[in-house]
Amino acid sequence: MSNATLYPVPEEFARNALIDQDTYQRLYQASIDDPEQFWAEQAKRIDWMRPFKKVKQTSFDDHNVSIKWYLGGHLNVSANCLDRHLEQRSEQTAIIWEADEPGQARHITYRELHRDVCRFANALKHQGVAQGDVVTLYMPMIPEAAIAMLACSRIGAIHSVVFAGFSPEALAGRILDGRSNVVITADEGLRGGRSTPLKANVDEALTHADIKTVDKVIVVRHTGAEIPWHDHRDRDYAELMAEADDFCPPEPMDSEDPLFILYTSGSTGKPKGILHTTGGYLTYAALTHQYVFDYKDSEVFWCTADIGWITGHTYTIYGPLANGGTTVMFEGVPNYPDVTRMARVIDTHKINILYTAPTAIRAMMAMGDAAMAGADGSSLRLLGSVGEPINPEAWNWYYHTVGKGRCPIVDTWWQTETGATLMTPLPGATPLKPGSAACPFFGVQPALVDNEGNILQGAAEGNLVLLDSWPGQARSIFRDHERFVDTYFRTFKGTYFTGDGARRDEDGYYWITGRVDDVLNVSGHRMGTAEVESALVSHKDVAEAAVVGMPHDLKGQGIYVYVTLNDGIEASESLRQALRQWVRHEIGPIATPDVIQWAPGLPKTRSGKIMRRILRKIAVAEYDGLGDISTLADPGVVEHLINEHKSMT
Ligand code: PRX
Repeated sequence: MSNATLYPVPEEFARNALIDQDTYQRLYQASIDDPEQFWAEQAKRIDWMRPFKKVKQTSFDDHNVSIKWYLGGHLNVSANCLDRHLEQRSEQTAIIWEADEPGQARHITYRELHRDVCRFANALKHQGVAQGDVVTLYMPMIPEAAIAMLACSRIGAIHSVVFAGFSPEALAGRILDGRSNVVITADEGLRGGRSTPLKANVDEALTHADIKTVDKVIVVRHTGAEIPWHDHRDRDYAELMAEADDFCPPEPMDSEDPLFILYTSGSTGKPKGILHTTGGYLTYAALTHQYVFDYKDSEVFWCTADIGWITGHTYTIYGPLANGGTTVMFEGVPNYPDVTRMARVIDTHKINILYTAPTAIRAMMAMGDAAMAGADGSSLRLLGSVGEPINPEAWNWYYHTVGKGRCPIVDTWWQTETGATLMTPLPGATPLKPGSAACPFFGVQPALVDNEGNILQGAAEGNLVLLDSWPGQARSIFRDHERFVDTYFRTFKGTYFTGDGARRDEDGYYWITGRVDDVLNVSGHRMGTAEVESALVSHKDVAEAAVVGMPHDLKGQGIYVYVTLNDGIEASESLRQALRQWVRHEIGPIATPDVIQWAPGLPKTRSGKIMRRILRKIAVAEYDGLGDISTLADPGVVEHLINEHKSMT
């Protein structure tokens, strides 16, 4: 694939690009040779209330993992995203909100956003929220969600955004882990014409999990639906805003004070509260937003990610607003009311830069050229992809049909833990290879290691690690630093292990090959096999479950489940449906199993470890490549599983 078609930087794009090839090389080298100097320089894009004393103090030594940037500096994130733009841009649109139903957009200027954030910050204080408190957001993609995030940052509260597609059970787990005492939600969310009862879900989460710590639930009346109301606890957002003052001074925060936690899945156990802090995160978010997307003043930037994910945090909210940009928040889904929705939004709001996920691209591509039929699309200048490997077919369709062959595609590889992009082409500097995340961003030192941890040179394939820190790196897992060290720094000593595999070709381009651990990537959403398994075994009829990924045309990966039922329980189609519903109920629709296979027994080693390798092969009918099965406690189960699989297909 190294000799894949090379797409040179379009001449016109190169002429106006912020970073050309020579500049990339020079700056990259400078960032590696003298990180302190390079990152001190980059921090000038941020307004500091007190200058930092030291740029970087980081260690990946597993006895002493510590990641600190811009030590001693004080700043406020919301002031950087709002106040400092007021002089030049008070009437510029900060957020374009595109509602689920077409034709209902709102434009919010920096002046208005600043006022609303100040008001809500005052309201939060009024409700007793103090610096360092964790505030949980369970909200649809509406401007109030951005206002709530920024208001938290203004007063030094830590936000924990929970994707509104998660179930009450999943929400409860995150509220409990964060020991949050305030939840912000809406009456309902709307996506693709369907509503989700968010407020009722919050009530259910609090009641079922018997959560006593939450004393305030703030509710945005979004659809106006009837909702349950508890006077002692529930507060109406609009009422709080009406009473609040128009100005709230931004709290000077230490560079290493927490900004937010965001839960993400790992290969084992419950989701982890990934902790990001203030100075380094904001600097890195703003810098990558500008250079990766070649962002210029007054351009309209549309990142389609939900704020429930890291992409929504960094590239819908913090990056664009720190740069004084215009960002689009989209409440809906790409195929509602029909597959032309994305094209219509692009034309209506004259989007210059579109950043989306391969799963959305594949869904549009599945409809042939209908998705872009009749669209103008001439405002587009640059396209981006994120969340999962993009297959060359989807890349080509995106490039030719959406970008009309004019727009470079930045395939950005990163993770919740990395805060922002680590590897990507820079659009004015890097010739593109479809499906490759190309090269490291400034200051980023990727390496490939074999399973023993030896660093591989030249063209090679291996486990992807990072050799040194970057400012946007997660600092810890909330209240569980040991798990942080264990998960990321013990596998390959002295490095940060990403959990991904990658290949580097002869030109030095990186190709992400996917997770090498028990984490699935379903439609660009990260899901731990352990989480789905634990949801399944909590069902009364299930004795045991094992989950593996399988290739899926639209989702990238689908969820394939092997289930052992309790003695005396009969397998049936209705039970299969019931288990699918159960997982939706326990985690959310994104975790719905695609295939459930009955398994009277699971292939286990004598020490009881499930051999997922074998299950992955059976799921794709590769019965010959199972490898050595003689070490299994009961090799007979394999034949049984194969027969069952054959009978299903
Ligand atoms: O496997 C990689 C995949 O998504 C994982 C991170 O998921 P999450 O923390 O949810 O963040 C997603 C958005 C940044 C990675 O470990 N991934 C992300 N971007 C790419 C990717 N795989 C291939 N190519 C990408 N561009």
